[in-house]
Formats: sequence, structure tokens, C-alpha cells
Amino acid sequence: MSQKTHPAALTLTLTLLLLLASCAEGDTGPSGDRLYLQNGCGSCHGATGAGGSLGPALKDMSRFWDRNSMSAFFEDPKATLRSDERLSKLSKTFSAGMPAFQYLTDDQAGRIADFVLSLK
Ligand code: HEC
Repeated sequence: MSQKTHPAALTLTLTLLLLLASCAEGDTGPSGDRLYLQNGCGSCHGATGAGGSLGPALKDMSRFWDRNSMSAFFEDPKATLRSDERLSKLSKTFSAGMPAFQYLTDDQAGRIADFVLSLK
């Protein structure tokens, strides 16, 4: 019997390692700052949340939001606007309102909220 590793065994091992690596990626998923950019938040709020002509600055947001309330806001911004005087005033200074991000999973919305809440 040969001592050499069979090529098929090697391929199998590599495939399993790759699978493991991709599972690990799936568990963690993209970080909040990546999701923020991937979902186009930066196009209105700026890549670092500095704000711009299309969206307000996102600094010190923990004054107004926590992870849950902000995640709910992403899902249905209009609903929050109606019940939040500060936000509806702020909204009037922009030509278009914040779009709804209904396709985000709770986990993704939470990660984005964590990132936004970390901006100072
Ligand atoms: C088309 C421009 C636009 C995009 C894209 C956008 N926003 Fe907004 N966002 C706004 C505007 C305008 C407001 C002010 C409220 C309103 O008018 O709806 C706002 C409000 C907010 C607020 C509340 C600010 C405060 O003072 O309390 C947060 C937080 C926020 N956006 C985060 C995000 C995140 C995260 C994303 C991406 C998932 C995003 N926005 C995508 C335009 C945008």
C-alpha cells in the first residue's frame, strides 16, 4: 500500500475546509459598516455618517435611539416620522424622506444600527 495521500482525499479535505470557512463567514456575516455601505446609506448620509444634502448627519444617535427602535425605523421610517416631532421637523429640511429597508433581516438591521450608534 502506498503512503502517498490520494488526490481525491486531498480534494475532499480542501473542500471540507472551504465549506467550514464559508460557514464561519455565514455565522458572522458582513459587519455593520459594510452593510451600511452595501445598502446605500452612505449615498445620503455620507460614508462616515457626516451627512449631506440628501440626509442628516448620523452622530451621537444614542441620544434618540437604541438598537431596537432604530431597526424598526429602518423597516418603516414613515411610521416613526408620524409619531416623532423632532424627526418630522428634520425631515422637512430634506427633499426626499428616508426610504424603507424592509428587505433587511433583523440581524442585518441590528448590525447596521450598532454601527450607526457607534458614530460620534
Ligand atoms: C435617499 C436618502 C437616504 C438613504 C438612502 C438613507 N437615508 Fe437615512 N435618512 C434620510 C433622511 C432624509 C432622513 C431624515 C428623516 C426623513 O426625512 O425620513 C433620514 C434619517 C435617518 C436616521 C435618523 C436620524 C436622526 O436624526 O434621528 C437614521 C438613523 C438613518 N437615517 C440611518 C440610515 C441608514 C442606516 C440607512 C441605510 C440602511 C439610511 N439611513 C439610508 C435619507 C436617507
